[in-house]
Amino acid sequence: MRERQKDRSESGRERFGEIHRDRHREFQEGEGIPIYTGFNIDDLRTLEVKTWARMGGLGAYVNLLGEELEADNYVCEIPPGKSLEPQRHLFEEVVYVLSGRGATTFWARPGGEKWTFEWQENSLFALPANMGYQHFNGDSNKPARLFAKTTLPAMFQYFHDPKFIFENDFIMEELESDLYSAEAKQYREGHIWAANFVPDVRAFDQMLTLLGRGAGGASITFYMPGLARLNMHQSEFPVGTYKKGHAHPAGRSIILVKGDHGYSLVWQPGYENEKQKVDWHTGSLFGVGLSELQGEIWWHQHFNTGSEPARYLVMHVNSPLIWDKHVQIEYVDEDPKIKELFESELAENGVKGKMPAACYTDPNYQWERAV
Ligand SMILES: [Fe+2]
Repeated sequence: MRERQKDRSESGRERFGEIHRDRHREFQEGEGIPIYTGFNIDDLRTLEVKTWARMGGLGAYVNLLGEELEADNYVCEIPPGKSLEPQRHLFEEVVYVLSGRGATTFWARPGGEKWTFEWQENSLFALPANMGYQHFNGDSNKPARLFAKTTLPAMFQYFHDPKFIFENDFIMEELESDLYSAEAKQYREGHIWAANFVPDVRAFDQMLTLLGRGAGGASITFYMPGLARLNMHQSEFPVGTYKKGHAHPAGRSIILVKGDHGYSLVWQPGYENEKQKVDWHTGSLFGVGLSELQGEIWWHQHFNTGSEPARYLVMHVNSPLIWDKHVQIEYVDEDPKIKELFESELAENGVKGKMPAACYTDPNYQWERAV
């Protein structure tokens, strides 16, 4: 049986030379910018970027392990006082401003009306599918650096020709001048804040309690109506605490927007003794991983050993309309080594622990909000 399959595969290579092509990888490699892969980037603000002709600035791709078929990430720098090339593409993006300030002009149809909105460090905004746009650096002395998550890899799973993705003249949606008006588009419903533009996620002060995740933290989901597939949430948790271990599918880009010292543990089911420790601080990025089986989900857990509350922004590739499989490990059930490591890390950093003893013995322990 095995031999027959092998024969068929070899015959396929002869007759259909393109059968093993990875169109997305070919496209990425053809862009001529660095491609980083793995679990994490220590600091997106200083990641090395190189000239990116298509965008007209400097850039680098970041492929986080486990999400390669659905999403990618990039860093793009706009030189002082410059603008990037106009863009239009069928995939959608969410952009987080790592540094600098500037503006983006957008339009629905070539030659049609254009509008502009301004952004700054820690702004978050959507780039809907096939909307025309152009980014400008508003500072003539400093570069502006953007981080984006996109659904380009998923597009290449369905359409092989980049021209279809980048030169498609279909108007997805008639846009209005207030697409990025934070005030006009926001409303609250549960833990959801709906807007295509959040002026400053670091300063955002409308987060709500989500005590079931432990540590007395707060969180909010950012739903961007202009996006079909991407959505975001962010959480903050106090100094000297850690959240419950949990797992859900890959496709999450986690960026520390506040917090000077901490770490996360990431581990594959069945490999509890081989936990990977990812140290982080403001500007760090990491993903949640996925096994080679492309189906098992990896556990992960976040620890704050710094001197200020830690706030992380998560970009999801999954729509908020799709309910992910989430599982969680309660403190009473966790591996005792997790607490031991946390306490030794706290001691090393001279930070006082604030995990109440009762949370390790009482399965119904009631947390109070602490950020
Ligand atoms: Fe998570």
